[in-house]
Amino acid sequence: MHRFVGYLEQTACETYHNIIVHLETPGTKLHTEWANLPAPDMAKGYWKLPDDATWLDTLRCIYADESHHRDVNHTFASMESDDPNPFLQMHKEDATRAWKLAEAERTLKEHRYGGS
Ligand SMILES: [Fe+2]
Repeated sequence: MHRFVGYLEQTACETYHNIIVHLETPGTKLHTEWANLPAPDMAKGYWKLPDDATWLDTLRCIYADESHHRDVNHTFASMESDDPNPFLQMHKEDATRAWKLAEAERTLKEHRYGGS
């Protein structure tokens, strides 16, 4: 099943790559329609993008996520069921970074506004 999902994610990557190339190419319909679109607020929040982020920035983030999904699924497809999870340490480090970032944001808000 992981191999199938890996190929499905690979197809998503190829689609995002194709869209991004067209969006970045002047003279294409996607460039005309989407080159100057701002990123949706939801995307800015989810990927912590700056206020002036664009739709192109959003697509690049989605593409990066799909690339990771592809790699994870192909990795799992090549493992035995009792092999150790090679992504566990990376997820622990990401969780620690996210916790520290959330803690820093909470401290900053308390400093600015004096509480919750
Ligand atoms: Fe995915």
